Amino acid sequence: MADATPFLQALKGKRPAHTPVWFMRQAGRSLPEYRRLRAGKNMLYSCLDPKLAAELTCQPVRRHGVDAAVFFSDIMVPLKLAGINVDIKTGVGPVMDKPYRNASDIWELVSHRTPDTSAITEAVRLACTKVDVPILAFAGAPFTLAAYLVEGGPSRDHLAARTLMHSAPQSWRMLANWCAELSLQFAKAQIAGGARAFQLFDSWAGSLSRADYLRYCAPYSRRVLAGVSALRIPTIHFGVGTASLLTDFAEGATCVGVDYRTDLSEAITTLRKHGSPSPLVVQGNIDPAMLACPPRLLDEHVDAILDAGKAADAHILNLGHGVPRQTDPHVLTRLVQRVHRL
Ligand code: CP3
Repeated sequence: MADATPFLQALKGKRPAHTPVWFMRQAGRSLPEYRRLRAGKNMLYSCLDPKLAAELTCQPVRRHGVDAAVFFSDIMVPLKLAGINVDIKTGVGPVMDKPYRNASDIWELVSHRTPDTSAITEAVRLACTKVDVPILAFAGAPFTLAAYLVEGGPSRDHLAARTLMHSAPQSWRMLANWCAELSLQFAKAQIAGGARAFQLFDSWAGSLSRADYLRYCAPYSRRVLAGVSALRIPTIHFGVGTASLLTDFAEGATCVGVDYRTDLSEAITTLRKHGSPSPLVVQGNIDPAMLACPPRLLDEHVDAILDAGKAADAHILNLGHGVPRQTDPHVLTRLVQRVHRL
């Protein structure tokens, strides 16, 4: 596929003919065709079925005409492939058979086998044959993965994970290292299948102080970004509630993903002032709540974001977090068509 697609052009800092747009969680329960294909099938097993994962990756491209196809999978898949007893429960999220909290739990964890990622590579390879937009690889950042492992499931403030990093820094480092390696292997498997860009999801980074983020998490996230960059694949670094971490997120990444709670103009100003990467490429940041507003309000919101994005060298339009499951898919299709027309 040509590098001239708007999404890959923007990741080079260029301004393509139209602003590229894709949505986090664009493949998912907002689509009736997704619900039909997934009916009665476990989430993690669906991710490990190459034909199904490839088809789910392509559904939003066909329906909405988005400029990138984020690979259908989950940040928990590499844990499953490494032999961890993890499941994704509907309405709850990822759940482990036990929390991994002390040195012996973590020793046990890091002794797990190297995952066989061939099903992932095969799924991406199949997806590449079905659509002509770039496939976007992704992985969970070491902190977000480690937080699930230490807590044993979803948590609001990640207390046990934050306690561990301070009380047992060596165990924490071992855990974060292992998570970084696992995420990098997951990324490489997708890239081997033909993915052309990569996004690192650090959903929970916003729950950390900047000092803790820099000390206990950033080195491991940067290792993943560096491993992907070494393959000459552009990287997007996204987190939620990360306004105070934007310049740190920019380090080692091609593009900074801005969440919906951060003002895009202010984010660009901050990044420019504090030595942002050059060229400055940003992604974001439609408030998912606006998708359920009357069209006029949504259009105004999108126009303001497109306007703010002009201060960067390049801008990829996206939500500031995932598509809510109750979203009317026609709203997303109309949004893409309108942005492509503008
Ligand atoms: O953006 C995409 O569509 C790409 C695929 C993707 C999924 N999850 C598919 C998915 C990606 C990149 C993720 C990342 C992910 N998964 C994160 C980080 C990003 C974020 O959203 O903050 C996290 C924290 C997870 C863990 C996870 N997986 C949760 C919390 C849930 C929701 C559980 C629920 O039912 O409330 C999942 C399940 C999941 N992952 C779904 C999808 C499409 C829904 C599965 C279903 O249809 O039942």
